[in-house]
Amino acid sequence: MTTPIIYSLPGNDITGERLACLLDAEIGRLSTHTFPDCETLVRVDTDPRDREVAIVATLRHPNDVVMPLLFLADTLHGLGARRVGLIAPYLAYMRQDMRFHPGEALTARTFASILSDAVDWLVTVEPHLHRFTSLADVYDIPATAVQVSSDIGAWISRQVDRPLIIGPDEESRQWAESVAARAGAPCTVVTKTRRGDTDVVESIPDLGAHADRTPVLVDDIISTARTMLAAIGHLHEQHARPPFCVGVHAVFATGAHAALENARPACIATTNTIPHSSNQIDVVPSIAAAARSHFGLSDSPGPR
Ligand code: R5P
Repeated sequence: MTTPIIYSLPGNDITGERLACLLDAEIGRLSTHTFPDCETLVRVDTDPRDREVAIVATLRHPNDVVMPLLFLADTLHGLGARRVGLIAPYLAYMRQDMRFHPGEALTARTFASILSDAVDWLVTVEPHLHRFTSLADVYDIPATAVQVSSDIGAWISRQVDRPLIIGPDEESRQWAESVAARAGAPCTVVTKTRRGDTDVVESIPDLGAHADRTPVLVDDIISTARTMLAAIGHLHEQHARPPFCVGVHAVFATGAHAALENARPACIATTNTIPHSSNQIDVVPSIAAAARSHFGLSDSPGPR
C-alpha cells in the first residue's frame, strides 16, 4: 500500500502536520491564491496520482472555506487520486436540521449533499446530531463521527477538583452523561429555550446538594456564548463556585470569547477542532485513529 497524502487548507497546517505524523502519511503541498474579485485559485504541487489522499479543513466560517475545498477535491480527483477524503474536525451546517419556520432551507441536508458529491469519505468530531441521529442520515459517503467525550472527561478529571458536569440543554444529555462518567462526576442537565440568535433562556435546577463541587458547563459548540453566559448567570444567583466552561468546538462568533471572559468563569477550555487560544484538550490522536481506518491502514501507529 502506498503512503497516503494529507493536504491542509490554509489555517489547518498544524492539525494536518500532526495527522501526517500520526498516520505516517506524506504532507501534500498546495497553494491558494485569492484574486482581486475574491475568486480563488488552488494549485496542487504534490502529485496525488494513484494515491489515497485526504484534505484537512475545519469548517468554521464555512462559506469562505467551502469553495476552495470543492476546488481542491475536484482537482485531486482530476489529477488521479484514488480516493479523496475530508477530515473536517468541525463540521458546519448541522444545526439547521429541520425547517424551524415555513420556507426555510434545510441546510444540513443540502450541505451534506454538496460534500457527499465532492469527497469519498468524511471524518469529523462530535457533529451536532440531534434530529439526525447519525451522519448516515444525511451523508451518502462513509462518514465517521469521532466521539471525544472520553478525551474531555479525562481532561476534566485531571484539571477540576470535585467536578459537577452540567449539560446546557436536553440535546446534550447523552453527551454530558458520558463526559461525567469518564470524569467520575455527577451530572445535571439544564432546560434551555432559544428565542433568537443571541436570546437564550435557561433554567438550572437547585444545585444546593452539590455546593461543594465545581460546576463544569460542557457544550458541543460555543458560538455566541449566550448559552454559557445564561448558565453562568444562574450559577452566580445560586452562589455556586465560578464554573469551568468546556466546549468541543471553539466557533466563537465575534466578541463572544471576550464576553465569556468578562463573566469571569474559572476557565474556558475547548478542544483543538478549531484553532483558538482556548484550546486545551487535544483530540488529534482520536481524529487520526478514525482517519486510519478510512485510509485502510493497520491499527498500529506509524514508525515516526
Ligand atoms: C445547540 O443546541 C448547541 O448544542 C449549543 O448549545 C449552541 O450551539 C451554543 O450556541 P451559543 O454559543 O450561540 O449559545
